[in-house]
Amino acid sequence: MNKGIIYGVGVGPGDPDLLSLKAYKLIKSAKYVAYFKKKNKDGISYSIIKKYLKKNVITVSMPYPITTELPFLSSEYNTILSKFYDDCCEKILSIISTNNDIIVLCEGDPFFYGSFMHIHSRLKNKNKIEVVPGITGMSAAWTATDIPITWGDDTLTIIMATLEEEEIIKRIKNSDAILFMKIGSSFEKIRKILIDLSLFEKAFLIENASMLNQNVQKLAEVPTKSLPYFSIIIVHGNGRRP
Ligand SMILES: C[S@@+](CC[C@H](N)C(=O)[O-])C[C@H]1O[C@@H](n2cnc3c(N)ncnc32)[C@H](O)[C@@H]1O
Repeated sequence: MNKGIIYGVGVGPGDPDLLSLKAYKLIKSAKYVAYFKKKNKDGISYSIIKKYLKKNVITVSMPYPITTELPFLSSEYNTILSKFYDDCCEKILSIISTNNDIIVLCEGDPFFYGSFMHIHSRLKNKNKIEVVPGITGMSAAWTATDIPITWGDDTLTIIMATLEEEEIIKRIKNSDAILFMKIGSSFEKIRKILIDLSLFEKAFLIENASMLNQNVQKLAEVPTKSLPYFSIIIVHGNGRRP
């Protein structure tokens, strides 16, 4: 086992003030910082905390090999991403093998649909890894609407918009509050489902929650358009209360 520690650090949803004190202390003193990013773009997690880094910090960017989403079940998707995460682990191991610690930045919370989980699962039995939780994008999203998400014994269901229509409808029918993530090219599908289930008028679209370009709208007022990657649709719960 290497002596260096891998820290998976949640940097929150976008506002650099929404970091935990623990994350802030680690980031401020870090010598090595790794982060995922889309090809030809600044990493969002890196952009969030850039201003806190030491001048001589060494950064390791890990650009995703895929920009458009292939179906999750395609073997091509799995092969490409699996190799990518293996390569990321190699990069990280090469640093901690010199007895240095490394921080891997994660937007929101690392264990909530975060890429860091793929590093964690590959290296957890080989190296010391510490995970620092972060405020999730969904928490920033419902806060941005200024309406509570769940009351009393409401059930909140978090649905990936990439699921099949039939599956989504089944899950909505067992929920009080509903939140859609990973919307992208599934926007039309979600709109249709919410219209069919008479939930459309209650729904909100939140783009870039807690970021400088945050945008909150009633879904019914949003024209058909392509959404930014950081988009969430919410139907708030309305349950029991005193
Ligand atoms: C791969 S998941 C990452 C989730 C992240 N680890 C978290 O804790 O929020 C990416 C999805 O999270 C949602 N998301 C994350 N942060 C967001 C934000 N600040 N504003 C809006 N949506 C966000 C979007 O639906 C996006 O498609």
